[in-house]
Amino acid sequence: MKVVTHENYDQMSKNVAQRIAQVVTKKPNAVLCLPTGSTPIGLYREIIRLHKEENLDFSNVTAFNLDEYFGLPEEHPQSYSYYLWNRLYKHINIPKENIHYIRVLSNKLEDVDQYCQEHDATINELGGFDLLVDGIGLNGHIGFNEPADELIPHTHLEPLSQSTIDENSRFFDSKNDVPRYALTMGMGTIFKAKQIILIASGSHKSEIVHKILHSNVTTQIPATLLHLHQNIEMHLDHEAAKLL
Ligand code: F6R
Repeated sequence: MKVVTHENYDQMSKNVAQRIAQVVTKKPNAVLCLPTGSTPIGLYREIIRLHKEENLDFSNVTAFNLDEYFGLPEEHPQSYSYYLWNRLYKHINIPKENIHYIRVLSNKLEDVDQYCQEHDATINELGGFDLLVDGIGLNGHIGFNEPADELIPHTHLEPLSQSTIDENSRFFDSKNDVPRYALTMGMGTIFKAKQIILIASGSHKSEIVHKILHSNVTTQIPATLLHLHQNIEMHLDHEAAKLL
């Protein structure tokens, strides 16, 4: 795993935005897979700037997002479809029909399974992702693939770990409001990316960053599985890199 350390969050965001711009410029119909959370906020700000000021064109780009809370209505301010629409998609010229959220309207488990299979089939038909960007959970989760003895390879419904519920409660009024389940791409779906960029910012991420880089591959730290991918970079700001 190649590690790139940046002076600060702003530099990291700008650099990773440039990487996305390179992919989209080289291949105008690129397929991207994008994260939510606090880490990519600066990245999306910079992509919007590149679109508005430097005409970065998304008219043929297709975009997926990695995960979504299960049971939150799409208009809920903490839903990931709401996040991506408001922080990125509505500000760039990506056609609505090229945007794929992970969103299932039914609560019936058989409908969820069917939805997940169709979702993975769509990704396969498109040939996987040209670039996938993701943040890192404090417990090493990738998407919402939580530490466990076994990981489900495809898109699926995942119970959130207590650590993730605690970590993400900062976005909700109370811990009780954090959904207990999420839909997430599995590690197999994530591995369909030709290139993966992980981003981490802040000293609270420094321990997990150190663990990921120095641990053997283990499903108890899902991000370590990415050591097996042939084209992966981890981009860190100075703080997240402080234990390296
Ligand atoms: C979100 C996602 C998660 C986050 C991770 C870090 O789509 O896939 O894996 O990247 O929880 O979140 P932040 O950036 O809020 O620290």
